[in-house]
Amino acid sequence: MTLSLISPAKINLFLRIVRRREDGYHELASLFQAISLFDTLHFRLSEKDSLTCSDPTLPTDQSNLIAKALASFRYHTNLHHPVSIHVEKRIPQQAGLGGGSSNAATTLWGMNQLLNQPISEAQLIQWGGEIGSDVPFFLSEGTAYCTGRGEILRSLLPLPKQRVVIVKPPQGLSTPLVFKNLILSELSARDPEVILDNFLKGDPIYFNDLELPSFRLLPFLAKLKIQLQEDGFSTVLMSGSGSSFFCLKDGKMINRDSYTSYSAEFINRSTGQWFCVE
Ligand code: C5P
Repeated sequence: MTLSLISPAKINLFLRIVRRREDGYHELASLFQAISLFDTLHFRLSEKDSLTCSDPTLPTDQSNLIAKALASFRYHTNLHHPVSIHVEKRIPQQAGLGGGSSNAATTLWGMNQLLNQPISEAQLIQWGGEIGSDVPFFLSEGTAYCTGRGEILRSLLPLPKQRVVIVKPPQGLSTPLVFKNLILSELSARDPEVILDNFLKGDPIYFNDLELPSFRLLPFLAKLKIQLQEDGFSTVLMSGSGSSFFCLKDGKMINRDSYTSYSAEFINRSTGQWFCVE
């Protein structure tokens, strides 16, 4: 039995850090959107477990979030059928695009599918939150307001479809390092519920509280943002903890040596079905 599923990237249309928690995590409030830049996961029920990846730089041991998701699925269900998983990697790493978390969510969904769906989506979302803060979002239908560590979902109706250009410089950023460089007194005082309301009424404000710590770690990112704005994009914002940016509306995409760019659009899935691209 085989199954191939896409594993989409995400962007954060706004990302507000609310406070540092006692457990070291940060309370956040963010509008997440899935996009059509994706990896593909191929699953095959087989004789023995294997995990392979088209990108040799990605570890395929127990540190890989796919392996963690598989272990979690087995731990919770006691269903231990061996499976071969191959990942075609396209989503850049250390980019703030959630590639690893998306792969974990896709693995939970794929295993559930292959083993005839014994588990509810709500249950998969809960297990996803144990694997990583961003994993539950990828089990939403593609647009969600996320709070807590990021793992508490409020599912939203799809936003109007938009083209998005992702720009990824060669240097990546480590999420824990960015959070460590956050200066709490620098954070915006905006009320995220008001921002969300305005967003849904068609009056969006795009901002990311993690831009400042990321720009402190990689100062050229601030210059790259200005360059992209000068290229004509009306909105240029770092996604998650960086180092990628997403650009909205009519810029002229100039291919430069200093970054790789990807063209994508917002995507959502239908209830009960997985994400797909035309
Ligand atoms: O949950 P996840 O394992 O993806 O988080 C990776 C790291 O990012 C955490 O260990 C923590 O340093 C940081 N983080 C945080 N606050 C969050 C999410 C992540 O400080 N809400």
